[in-house]
Amino acid sequence: MKKRYSIRIKSFAAILSFTFCTDAQSQANLPINRVKNSNRQRISINDGWHFYKYESEAKADNLIYDERPKVSGSNEYKVADAKPTEAVKVKATQEVLKTWILPSGNDFIKDPQNKHVRPNGNPGGNFQFVMSNFDDSSWEKVNLPHDWAIKGPFQIGNNAEVGGGMGRLPCNGVAWYRKKLDIPASDAGKSIFLDIDGAMSYAMVWLNENLVGGWPYGYNSWRLDLTPFIVPGGKNQLAIRVDNPNNSSRWYPGGGIYRNVWLTKVNPIHVGQYGTYITTKNVSKTSATINLEVTIDNKSKKNANIEVITRIYPLDAKGKIIGNTIGNFNTLNSNIAAGKSDKVESSILIENPRLWGPPPSQQPNLYVAVTTLLQNGKSVDSYETRFGIRSLEFNPDKGLFVNGEHIIIKGVNQHHDLGALGAAVNTRAVERQLEILGEMGCNAIRMSHNPPAPELLELTDRMGFLVIDEIFDSWVLKKTPNDFHLIFADWSEPDLRSFIHRDRNYPSVILWSFGNEVGEQYSGEEGATVAKRLYSMVKEEDATRPTILAMNYAKPDMPLPAVIDVIGLNYQGEGIRQSPEFEGTDRIRTAPQYNPFHAKFPNKLIISTETASAFSSRGVYLFPVSKEISAPLRDGRGGDSKIRQTSSYELHAVDFGSTADKVFSTIDQHPFVAGEFVWNGFDYLGEPTPYYDSRSSYSGIIDLAGFKKDRFYLYQSKWCPEFPMAHILPHWNWAERVGEITPVHVFTSGDEAELFLNGKSLGKKKKGLYEYRLRWDSVRYEPGELKVISYKNGKKWAENEVKTTDKPTKLLASADRDIIYADGKDLAFITVQITDKNGFMVSRTNNPIEFSIEGPGEIVATDNGDATNMVSFASKKREAFNGLCLVIVQSNAGKLGTITLKAKSSGLEDGTITLKTITK
Ligand code: GAL
Repeated sequence: MKKRYSIRIKSFAAILSFTFCTDAQSQANLPINRVKNSNRQRISINDGWHFYKYESEAKADNLIYDERPKVSGSNEYKVADAKPTEAVKVKATQEVLKTWILPSGNDFIKDPQNKHVRPNGNPGGNFQFVMSNFDDSSWEKVNLPHDWAIKGPFQIGNNAEVGGGMGRLPCNGVAWYRKKLDIPASDAGKSIFLDIDGAMSYAMVWLNENLVGGWPYGYNSWRLDLTPFIVPGGKNQLAIRVDNPNNSSRWYPGGGIYRNVWLTKVNPIHVGQYGTYITTKNVSKTSATINLEVTIDNKSKKNANIEVITRIYPLDAKGKIIGNTIGNFNTLNSNIAAGKSDKVESSILIENPRLWGPPPSQQPNLYVAVTTLLQNGKSVDSYETRFGIRSLEFNPDKGLFVNGEHIIIKGVNQHHDLGALGAAVNTRAVERQLEILGEMGCNAIRMSHNPPAPELLELTDRMGFLVIDEIFDSWVLKKTPNDFHLIFADWSEPDLRSFIHRDRNYPSVILWSFGNEVGEQYSGEEGATVAKRLYSMVKEEDATRPTILAMNYAKPDMPLPAVIDVIGLNYQGEGIRQSPEFEGTDRIRTAPQYNPFHAKFPNKLIISTETASAFSSRGVYLFPVSKEISAPLRDGRGGDSKIRQTSSYELHAVDFGSTADKVFSTIDQHPFVAGEFVWNGFDYLGEPTPYYDSRSSYSGIIDLAGFKKDRFYLYQSKWCPEFPMAHILPHWNWAERVGEITPVHVFTSGDEAELFLNGKSLGKKKKGLYEYRLRWDSVRYEPGELKVISYKNGKKWAENEVKTTDKPTKLLASADRDIIYADGKDLAFITVQITDKNGFMVSRTNNPIEFSIEGPGEIVATDNGDATNMVSFASKKREAFNGLCLVIVQSNAGKLGTITLKAKSSGLEDGTITLKTITK
């Protein structure tokens, strides 16, 4: 059985809640690369890199992509909804490598006139770090995915080079990665590509002292053709330069080659990059039409006659083919001239398809199309495309329909970092986030505000989450001095087209977003013209999904919203800065916008792409408690700037936001709105509004370590109406408050509840219309036991209790999974609780804990979810935060056995847990 931590071990609600509102099962590290045939190899080259980072940006070499504007002043404390500004023009005064890098985007530039021609010359070719004989043995040895900044140290204080916005971690700078590739002689004649899922940022690649190309945008995936430079039958020196500017992001971007890297070896005649495109039409339970497009590249010197055969197979929940083919496309023929590409198309009708849809009411069933290219009857390539069959309807009056069923969007926004693991992608860490979100009833993710790792979309496909796939946070106008606007003119087209090519076969992707709160909301027709250009590109690449922009400023009568298919509103539905205290402000102030948008665009569906941005620190409760349900956070009103913590009564938000209760009420009163994406699911590194001296956000429903804040249960109560649950807050350890008013709030999926303090009823309360919590605001604290019994339709529904605990006596360790794969990647997330003698977690305990490990695994990170904590995530010593601490253990590759993790803290009994590692 899967074990999880529970704050109160005996809590009935906590234990039951683990699996109810989600069908998500642990599927860690399922094979993503499923192609087994000998003609196509996709080889991970993650291991064995040598890494060097310059001490400072000033000391780096001058192999720069382009000159950047000089940045003066600080971007700290800039409110998230500040108006974006004009770009600063820079004239290059030195040689830059941009013209050699631009051609790497050519495959995704449509008009042949606009493709870039590579100039003569080989810049950097004789720079020492690209030379084959350069001795890099003293460089750090690293494996990818690698985030150079996550270990810190954190930069503290007002003069920090990297401030709170980018997470106070040393993610800026220039670094090199080197690796020798062993290319056997038998690879002669093959096409060999380097596939990089993501490198942060301005990556440039040399192979055997030749500049091959590169890709500036750190979140996109890209390919370079190494074939002209490769020498089969020996060692080939690969050198990659990465340059990550400071002031380039409003959140923590990470630094380095933080996603997976592959070598793809194929016959010169092969299926192109992202070379298949599968769409489905006329989908019903009884039949569906599957359309297929295959692009074949002929990189050989001869014309070729190719037969294309594609068969469809069903997949099981683990991604394995089950049974026989259920559909064969007609064999297609293609005559491809040497050096050219060709596209062939076909479609078939299949019967009784197993549809893809979101749990719990539907199942995320998947298929794979296996495409084989034959030349003279012999297979030259085989390529697999996973896809799903589903229908989507975006009904402007009723919301979203998936396969004919109305699905309310219960979504969250997610940034790409994985907390203490940083930006370096790890499939299990991503999966764990999705499992916890699924347990809350969340069924949708908005990839804010950039293309995610492919592994994340593999998981949303398999687990059945709906996805808004988003690419840009800025266009021509800038939010930070070094953000994407610097390369928008050159790269918006290749970035946008390649992003859609990569992601258009994922059934979980239901909408394309090509902008978040862009400055072009403010620039009238000029802004709309930029939007129209991007919109047409999206449609050219995939017309089967609608487009959306997330707008926090554009109003119905402005030109921008008219461009897109679905209206995405950030905070505008609830209204922005509506309380009288904002009168006269020069910030955005907007009356509630659902009705005006619906009236102006009766044919466009509305989705709330960002809601809430409410604050809380797990386990922190601040008094007095507001009577309101949603007010901007201030000192004494949900916040305390001295300790930089925010209250878990869950009643306060950022100035432009609203709390969960207010959003629920507004959306329930506007049933034409398809649903919401909360800002945000998990706390993330950087953007620590409202306290920029901190390292990470306060707006997550779940903290940075993955521990649930009280808000988790508020969303669960609303999003899992059939799941019997009740949750009491606050904890009941208030020795200093005896006799003082200590409000008690209850989140329950029931409709009424009775609260008992030490067996005495404090009364029964019923939720009113558009009310989502039950509150007993005049409770006077006395130690003992608080218990709630909740009811639904008059029948007993759920109960929960909290107790005043005894003093802390021991550490208790539990793991999310106690059997993990010995593949050097898999992780166990171990929660250590400080408990009393009865095993109840003692709130407000911050004892220092020291961790040690024995056996075939290592401690890769620790955290406690405290946004103010500046201890390196790599440290094996850490204080608990309000009773909890997290240790992340990774298996050693190929070593089976038992791992023992020990937690020690002076004066407390040790906590120990054992894990087993097994082969895959
Ligand atoms: C929004 C923005 C998000 C984030 C959020 C914080 O305006 O789109 O990226 O900054 O505010 O509250």
